[in-house]
Amino acid sequence: MRPNATSATAPLAGETHPPALHRLVAAVQALSMAHSLAGIQEVVRHTARELTGADGATFVLRDGDQCFYADEDAIAPLWKGCRFPLTACISGWAMLHRQAVMIPDIYADPRIPVDAYRPTFVKSLVMVPVRLADPIGAIGNYWAAPHVAGADEIELLQSLANTTAVAIENAQLYAQLDQRVRERTLQLEAANAELEAFAYSVSHDLRAPLRAIDGFSQALQEDAAGRLEGECLSHLAAIRRGVKRMNALVDDLLRLSRISRAEMHRQVFPISDLAAEVAAALRQQEPERQVAFQLEPGGLQAEGDPALVRIVLENLLGNAWKFTARASPAEIGFGRQPGVEPAVYFVRDNGAGFDPKYAGRLFAPFQRLHAASQFPGTGIGLATVQRIVRKHGGRVWAESQPGCGASFYFTLSPSA
Ligand SMILES: Nc1ncnc2c1ncn2[C@@H]1O[C@H](COP(=O)(O)OP(=O)(O)OP(=O)(O)O)[C@@H](O)[C@H]1O
Ligand SMILES: [Mg+2]
Repeated sequence: MRPNATSATAPLAGETHPPALHRLVAAVQALSMAHSLAGIQEVVRHTARELTGADGATFVLRDGDQCFYADEDAIAPLWKGCRFPLTACISGWAMLHRQAVMIPDIYADPRIPVDAYRPTFVKSLVMVPVRLADPIGAIGNYWAAPHVAGADEIELLQSLANTTAVAIENAQLYAQLDQRVRERTLQLEAANAELEAFAYSVSHDLRAPLRAIDGFSQALQEDAAGRLEGECLSHLAAIRRGVKRMNALVDDLLRLSRISRAEMHRQVFPISDLAAEVAAALRQQEPERQVAFQLEPGGLQAEGDPALVRIVLENLLGNAWKFTARASPAEIGFGRQPGVEPAVYFVRDNGAGFDPKYAGRLFAPFQRLHAASQFPGTGIGLATVQRIVRKHGGRVWAESQPGCGASFYFTLSPSA
């Protein structure tokens, strides 16, 4: 018969130990926040010893058919860093038998490899398995003087071991999740880079054949105009219009992929000055238009790449300018939403507006909600805006009602 072997299912003794219980509760909380094995180890090795007031504690991990003494907290060295076969040490016994073991006199118990204990202070011990159903480790307590551990001590240690098991499983899940997120991010980055390279080379390579079509159709127009009939001439003119349009599309695509490849130079800069410059340039292009700009005064600052943010403002203010062509009086506003962090900048107008149902679509390349005959454009502006904003880690979105103007919002840093 095994001397004094005690099962872990013993109830807590009537006389509880409030400081020990407090310590256990604190450990449960700390373990619930530990997301790595190292963090768990740190909590366990201190708590295990303090819970019972033992002279030493070890934290053992199962590694195949071996016990790895991962960590310890004791009055003198025990076996930290050592490995023993599961069948040749008491932590292995607790794991293989899925039960706690209490040994008041290690020299009187045949399960103890006394040679390993002779150099240590240990006279008595308790060992509890971590995860009773399928042990992944064990926690040991050791005493320098003969000690008969009570059921409450064993129960406390087993509770710590059970919580440790959950914490280890959580840590493994976190590690797996983290790894998966990292893998997916890498895959996504690779796919994006591939797409970018593809868009760049396609648009780049399309230029040469386009130039040939353009050049030869122009030559045909010039050299053979006299020999061609009316219908053939208008076909030729249609070819030239198509080529011109395709050239514009290719240019836009190239510009878009260049933005994604561009290096970012973040700095603090006066974004309201930038908006004023863009507004002035718009006025200069169409001086006959009456447009009231309400730009937030007072040197509004932003943090980002000023050259890229200029492109954002050129597109958003340019759209506001374009889509207020029929508004009278036309009003365009730029500013920062008060009291919101990170900063949310807006561009709003009282122009044509759009159906909010399609607000999400606007940011895809070549998506337009208005007829080119009414409001010209290729539909690349907002796609460019979104790329730049995302490059900054920010977000862009729009609100509108048909006929009631539109508001575009953007941030230049990730949301909290
Ligand atoms: N301020 C706005 N008011 C109403 N509709 C807008 C406004 N800004 C954008 N839109 C809608 O979103 C579409 C896409 O805008 P985007 O800037 O990408 O293209 P575009 O202005 O038509 O052409 P591009 O910018 O390439 O010259 C526009 O065609 C229009 O339908
Ligand atoms: Mg535009």
